Amino acid sequence: MPEADNEGKLYFENIPQEGKLFFLKGSNELDWGMKNRLARIFNPNDGRTVMLAIDHGYFQGPTSGLERVDVSIMPLVPDADVLMCTRGILRAVVPPAMTIPIVMRASGGPSILKELSDEQIAMDMEDCIRLGVCATAIQVFIGGEFESRSVVNMTRLVDAGLRYGIPTMAVTAVGKDLERNAKYFRLATRICAELGAHYVKTYFVEEGFETVTAACPVPIVIAGGKKRPELDALKMAYDAIDQGAAGVDMGRNIFQSDCPTGMMKAINAIVHGNEKPEKAFELYQTIKNEKK
Ligand code: R5P
Repeated sequence: MPEADNEGKLYFENIPQEGKLFFLKGSNELDWGMKNRLARIFNPNDGRTVMLAIDHGYFQGPTSGLERVDVSIMPLVPDADVLMCTRGILRAVVPPAMTIPIVMRASGGPSILKELSDEQIAMDMEDCIRLGVCATAIQVFIGGEFESRSVVNMTRLVDAGLRYGIPTMAVTAVGKDLERNAKYFRLATRICAELGAHYVKTYFVEEGFETVTAACPVPIVIAGGKKRPELDALKMAYDAIDQGAAGVDMGRNIFQSDCPTGMMKAINAIVHGNEKPEKAFELYQTIKNEKK
């Protein structure tokens, strides 16, 4: 007999092979590649993520704070779990040796001068694979003028990603005339999840946010929205996590802060350290004072 299979004690017949459930809500039935990419986005120790969103230029050009991504944003990357960006910025500015997981903005079309819901899929899945991304992101405009098309765009991206094990993050966009309340976000996030999104980015609302996270069968992360005072932004992040969010995908409240590094670390302390907002604010202030 060949010697490859030796008799001995290494079969551990008395130790059953474990069949663990995957740690992330609604993701247990996904394939290995999907789960592996999601596990690079969400920390398997706590199921949470701090995504740094810098994709704003895809529809509004050189957004305040993002004029020079190389100078202003790259120093923040070591404190983020994930970088959410466009392929243009990734190829032009982000060093390939920076091994941070990438969530790729894959929709676009209209600028801020036009109807924003008129988006299309703006990237081939082949290029996402070439760039080694961990997930794609696409806007869904529930209640918007081009609602149906944006939903179908999302389903097409989900289908393309499923072929190659690349998850899709649906982004629930809010139109100018749409109400921003729990009822609206329950509707928007649930539609995204029902139609295949692997996780959903939405906005925090003061009243009833826990019903939004409860009704969505996949993880929810929150966008930061417009810049607000630092303590308010930290409170929002804390409340969102407390009410069931699996993390943040935050941009302006970090890169438009007067101390982006301090905000990055303070948000991290809340999301991964369960720090109270007031304590996290102290951390932000300490870092801000050190940099003066
Ligand atoms: C907006 O559509 C972009 O996708 C941003 O990624 C998103 O809004 C999060 O950024 P912010 O925290 O600045 O709202």
